[in-house]
Amino acid sequence: MRIYIDSANLEEIQQAADFGIIDGVTTNPSLIAKEGRDHHDQIRAICGILDGDISAEVVSTDTEGMVAEGRDLAKIHDSVVVKIPLIRDGIKAVGRLASEGIRTNVTLCFSPLQALLAAKAGAYLISPFIGRLDDLSQDGMDLVREIVKIYDNYGYSTQVLAASARGPLHVKEAALAGAHVCTLPYKVFDKVFDHPLTEIGLEKFLADYRRSMMVHA
Ligand code: E4P
Repeated sequence: MRIYIDSANLEEIQQAADFGIIDGVTTNPSLIAKEGRDHHDQIRAICGILDGDISAEVVSTDTEGMVAEGRDLAKIHDSVVVKIPLIRDGIKAVGRLASEGIRTNVTLCFSPLQALLAAKAGAYLISPFIGRLDDLSQDGMDLVREIVKIYDNYGYSTQVLAASARGPLHVKEAALAGAHVCTLPYKVFDKVFDHPLTEIGLEKFLADYRRSMMVHA
């Protein structure tokens, strides 16, 4: 499973990239707004940090506007994947952009049938939002499982990107469900490293090593 960082913060992205295991970045207008910079400049800066898919979202809501914005975003860097909201005009824009060789990430997906439409339109990625469904007492991971199953049934090439992850359990379940990608806020990525038994085990190994060195000194 590929791991993306869900952030527009350059320090966080650099910190994550330094591990050498991050495959891309997802942004959205809210994440970029937090950084207080021009959206295109921020996407350009992110592309300079990490070699991988960099999702950048359009803010138009009509097909022509989304296509024009998508073309502009795609010109920033070859890594850019244009994020398009799952609305009627968005589905039309996905087909248009795909015919021009521009990759899209269809975002704000909350149902398996929406995901079917995105695949039929030729999306590169579909982003089911797990955490936001969990917040409504629905099982967000069921949506990921259903999309994976439907895409497998018909051999769609659209890849499933589990988004809106809130903790390590979401990451594990996304991997078990067969999601191609999971995007994580930095604080969730950081938690995935930890297990108390790793720390306890390492402390004991090092203490035993120090003791044995004293015996042989
Ligand atoms: C994905 O591309 C989105 O940016 C993101 O995962 C949204 O997550 P949130 O529900 O935590 O805002």
